[in-house]
Amino acid sequence: MSEQKTDGTGYNQISESDVQELITLLGEKYVLFRDREELEPYSHDEIPGTDYRAMPDVVVRPGTAEEISAIVKLANRRRIPITPRGAGSGLSGGAVPVCGGIVLGTDRLNRILDFDPANMMITVEPGVITNEINDYVKASGLFYAGYPMSLETCFIGGNVAENAGGGKAVKYGVTSRYVLGLEVVTPTGELVTLGGKLVKDVTGYNMVPLFVGSEGTLGIFTKIILKLVPRPRFQVDLLCLFPTGEAAIAAVAKLPTISGVQPTSIEYIDRLAFNEACRYLNESLTCGDCGAMLLVTLDGFDRDRLTEDYDAAGAFCQAAGATEVYVADSAATSERLWRLRRAIPEAFSLRYPTQSGEDVVVPPASIPRVIREFSAIAERYGICIPCYGHAGDGNVHARICAGPEWDHATWKQQLPVILRELYAVVRDCGGRISGEHGIGHKRIHYMSCVVSEEYLDLLRTIKQALDPNGIMNPGKVIPPRNGDAR
Ligand code: LAC
Ligand code: ZN
Repeated sequence: MSEQKTDGTGYNQISESDVQELITLLGEKYVLFRDREELEPYSHDEIPGTDYRAMPDVVVRPGTAEEISAIVKLANRRRIPITPRGAGSGLSGGAVPVCGGIVLGTDRLNRILDFDPANMMITVEPGVITNEINDYVKASGLFYAGYPMSLETCFIGGNVAENAGGGKAVKYGVTSRYVLGLEVVTPTGELVTLGGKLVKDVTGYNMVPLFVGSEGTLGIFTKIILKLVPRPRFQVDLLCLFPTGEAAIAAVAKLPTISGVQPTSIEYIDRLAFNEACRYLNESLTCGDCGAMLLVTLDGFDRDRLTEDYDAAGAFCQAAGATEVYVADSAATSERLWRLRRAIPEAFSLRYPTQSGEDVVVPPASIPRVIREFSAIAERYGICIPCYGHAGDGNVHARICAGPEWDHATWKQQLPVILRELYAVVRDCGGRISGEHGIGHKRIHYMSCVVSEEYLDLLRTIKQALDPNGIMNPGKVIPPRNGDAR
């Protein structure tokens, strides 16, 4: 380790005395730096392959907000990059230390601090596993409505940092709808409270939504206040099989308007995605010769009303060309279907190690055009781009898989070209390049495909004001201006 500045970035490399200071703060057990094998798990998230990896110099695992504040003050004073990390289940490299320096793991901040059923709120630390929130509040009849596909492993802090979406956003919206308050360590190390246990608050700027989805570039959460909602007593899932992808996708945006039903989810799963997930889970379900399917979930408090609603939704899907509509109205069958749905990313990652998982979002009625044009692009390049995801939100995960004959060099050369074509389609529909996975460093150089330089300048102004030394998760979200080092 040396005190020398890293070339061109303006950052300092971490020194022996920095490490000593961290050890004094946290104790030796919570400062990892010697053993590369110990550091390696912190060099990546769940993006398949090795292209987006970067090793940290040091990993710290603080246990309190005060420790985090002290660590950030050190990083800011010494101009050392610091990258906050949740469970590492992200898909855009947000927790990857692209400029080296310190990775700050939040796994020890894993307490539920205050469950307040009277106000329908819960205060948690960032390292709580998202699913644990629902386990904790279950008996009260309340629930946390965020439903990311990784809910069994992801941390709520990561969900808030990425403004995670997930499978129930058609009805319940995304994470930001539920975050009422935050305690944050800013990039200069100050501990600040934003919002609170308040349904309304216009006391100053609306800061909470600025931090939600800021991908760890504006600070580190140390407390999160979430709104809970009454948990519906009944849920029904319809698995609607369509002969073609086009028929399935054409039904998505029309389903609520024509059937008059407000679904909780409308997920699109093409044949390939379904079969991969079945194979991965050793699941015996089959989809016959259907081309694609919609997983439509409905929930509510009145069983009769729900029955009417799912009859209407099922009838609509049949009129729209579905050849089969299977009804899952028990918790066990519902979980069987959703487990399959949640397994798709993992199944694809194992099966196609050279691939790019995309997360485009467009106005929901433009989804048919996106799927059609993506399929034409796939054909032109002789590759496959299976699609699945939250079609009801206009949010589709397209998996660009390398051509069968492509070596890694061909992949590296072709991927940016293909991405720019896909993103041009998205831009023409008025869409964006990420609906829920974030920009991270995976998509940072594609921001200008869909947003203006003036918009990026606005982001740069905010970042500069809050993080004058640019130490908080550098290399993420905001692309450098031409010629800038960061
Ligand atoms: C999903 C994750 C990848 O929807 O967002 O499966
Ligand atoms: Zn998703």
